[in-house]
Amino acid sequence: MTAAARVLVTGATGAVGGAVLRRLAAAGHDVHGASSNGGPAPNQWAWRVGSEEPPEALRGPWHAVVHCAADTRWNLSAVESERANVAPLRALLKWLDGMDGSEGTDGMDGGTRLVHLSSSYATGLTGSVLPTSPEAYRNTYEWSKAAGERLLTAERASVDIVRFPIVMGTRRDGFLDRYSGFFWLPSSLCTGAVPALVGDENAYLDIVSTDDIAEHVRELVEGDRPAGARLTVLGGGDGAPRVAEAFDTILDALNGWRAENGAPALQPLPYVSGRQWNRFYLPFAREHLDRAQLTRVTAFQAYQGYLSVTEPFEATHRVDPILPTLHRSIRRWAESHPATARRVPRPWRP
Ligand SMILES: NC(=O)c1ccc[n+]([C@@H]2O[C@H](COP(=O)([O-])OP(=O)(O)OC[C@H]3O[C@@H](n4cnc5c(N)ncnc54)[C@H](OP(=O)(O)O)[C@@H]3O)[C@@H](O)[C@H]2O)c1
Repeated sequence: MTAAARVLVTGATGAVGGAVLRRLAAAGHDVHGASSNGGPAPNQWAWRVGSEEPPEALRGPWHAVVHCAADTRWNLSAVESERANVAPLRALLKWLDGMDGSEGTDGMDGGTRLVHLSSSYATGLTGSVLPTSPEAYRNTYEWSKAAGERLLTAERASVDIVRFPIVMGTRRDGFLDRYSGFFWLPSSLCTGAVPALVGDENAYLDIVSTDDIAEHVRELVEGDRPAGARLTVLGGGDGAPRVAEAFDTILDALNGWRAENGAPALQPLPYVSGRQWNRFYLPFAREHLDRAQLTRVTAFQAYQGYLSVTEPFEATHRVDPILPTLHRSIRRWAESHPATARRVPRPWRP
């Protein structure tokens, strides 16, 4: 494909969708974004996929649809998660089927290309997206991402599924459209909600930059149409950072910013095993912390599984070393959340 393509990016106001939209536009494509609430730019439309009809401006044909829309919260019920992540995908597939069937695919080389963004963690606790039981996953988010992949594999004659692990900002300066998900962690370090790092300091913490994803998506959109479901996995593989390296980097970035902004340095946290956490820290927290602190501490439990990954993800596309990007992204988070970043953590006295 050489000519400019008309491409729709769902979830275009999000951390990943924003980067994908800009990369495709910079490559000369005619890119439009859709998201639940729409965005400020003229090509950003409000469309709550799965519960609303698309606006007239988003009528096909499209050369490609890049599906980045998702609700990445881990604490939804299974029903909510299905509604947030699987039902919209089902609706999108139906819309594409109708469009490719009725509106003609002239110049579209056999219908709309679909690139679906998934997660390396969609393989849950078993290393596979095939189990249907929520028990096989760390949380309902993973379970719903796995269900999405199964749906695509069953129903789509041609689709690119792209998995990747934790997302940081641009390699140049750490910018992200939205600092959600993982950025709960630097916030918690600054407020003192995290008294210890529960996990294995030698475990893998695989991370990619939005640049890695956006460039990969551009290549897919411009490349050959896959026969069936084609899976690619971005990441560092066995070269991914270890938990201790990543946390040293995070602390260094936060303390660098704090020193420049008159806040005392954060101290490194001890590593504790899940067993120690559950038997010692958690009972203490229940007894001594107020409700807001306890909520954060309990939420932190959800991270245990992510800091204990001892088998690296197998990456089909290895990304460049990521620690400098992690550093820049954390610093950039601090710059854009100064009130939280300069907080003095409340000490834990177990
Ligand atoms: N961030 C990570 O660390 C990470 C890691 C692995 C995989 N992923 C995957 O990467 C993709 C993008 O995630 P992200 O981090 O960019 O998420 P995000 O920052 O939370 O953004 C989510 C985007 O999806 C939109 N959205 C959600 N539900 C929608 C719906 N039903 N219809 C239309 N738009 C909807 C949101 O719109 P509003 O802003 O209007 O609500 C927003 O634009 C997801 O598939 C996620 O599973 C992310």
